[in-house]
Amino acid sequence: MDRILVTGGAGFIGSNFVHHLIGATEAEVTVLDKLTYAASRESLAGLPESRVRLVVGDVADAAVVDPLVAEHDAVVHFAAESHNDNSLRDPSPFVQTNLVGTFTLLEAVRKAGVRLHHVSTDEVYGDLELDDPQRFTEATPYDPSSPYSSTKAGSDMLVRAWVRSFGVQATISNCSNNYGPWQHVEKFIPRQITNVITGGRPKLYGAGLNVRDWIHTEDHSSAVLTILQNGKIGETYLIGADGERNNLEVVQMILRHFGRPADDFDHVTDRAGHDLRYAIDATKLRTELGWEPAYRDFESGLAATIEWYVAHEDWWRPHKEAVEAGYAAKGQ
Ligand code: NAD
Ligand code: DAU
Repeated sequence: MDRILVTGGAGFIGSNFVHHLIGATEAEVTVLDKLTYAASRESLAGLPESRVRLVVGDVADAAVVDPLVAEHDAVVHFAAESHNDNSLRDPSPFVQTNLVGTFTLLEAVRKAGVRLHHVSTDEVYGDLELDDPQRFTEATPYDPSSPYSSTKAGSDMLVRAWVRSFGVQATISNCSNNYGPWQHVEKFIPRQITNVITGGRPKLYGAGLNVRDWIHTEDHSSAVLTILQNGKIGETYLIGADGERNNLEVVQMILRHFGRPADDFDHVTDRAGHDLRYAIDATKLRTELGWEPAYRDFESGLAATIEWYVAHEDWWRPHKEAVEAGYAAKGQ
């Protein structure tokens, strides 16, 4: 695979994957990104110009996507509207990008005969009880809760159908919650870190007992590359690193890092339809493809992420006020 097209490559995880690809392979990379509010050109800074180019365009625009796909050996599809809270305010761009965008890309790879890896989420499986001994596996039935997760579930179904009906050469991965540098301040961990830095308090939805299964974005990238190179066509792989923590624990780790009292946070209005718990069983990826995560200690990965936000205030500060105004309007 000499030429790889990465959709959404200017976002949080897509940009990490582009850096990972450049370091781990000899490939030339094209990023196709619409540069929505969630994108950041800075996240792609420092990459060799001879190997990376950015095409600004919409993954749902066949006039852009068809010729671009035909120039590449493989496509890795990260582009999406990705934030649950935004999908509750206005689902429309989620349907357009996550469903119509994936459909447009599938038609392009079908016509050009190009390999596709589709990046998806564990949220397609719905949620688990706190005391459920089972975790999500590739066999768990789909049961999405939010407009975001339902459009991701629909996009997975489109990929599966294009594999079976048209012989498209595709794999799918469903990953748990990512953390690390360059994540938008709308998301849970960056929001709480930057609340503390700006003199505010972390905001916990409801009681704060919802559990997420945290994985460092570098580990997500290494898993996606492993699947792209060695995954079996038509297969789905779950990606996770055994990182279950409830939201209260995460907030208290952040407060401890800054030397603030453990109760220095606010409970705010809960998210509508809030999934209780996600938990990934990544046995298939580990045993069949030999992948292992590098970041095994969540608290030290979180500490490094906190220090990154402390050092990169110029990057996130311009977005903070508008994000907080949006949350405040919903009592969050
Ligand atoms: P993000 O919101 O940070 O980035 C999304 C990127 O896609 C942005 O650069 C944006 O400009 C681009 N984009 C949006 N609409 C587009 C369009 N119509 N055409 C072209 N580009 C468009 O998202 P993220 O957190 O980096 O997530 C990337 C992918 O990984 C998504 O598919 C998401 O569902 C999936 N995922 C995310 C997580 C997580 O924890 N963040 C976990 C599992 C899976
Ligand atoms: O599981 C994978 C998914 O993880 C990805 O598919 C999504 O793209 C990604 O955004 C993430 O979804 P979540 O909804 O789990 O992430 P978020 O960061 O929005 O919230 C994490 C948890 O924190 C969730 O239980 C809601 C809670 N929360 C969130 C915010 C923004 C709070 O308690 N307070 C907050 O201010």
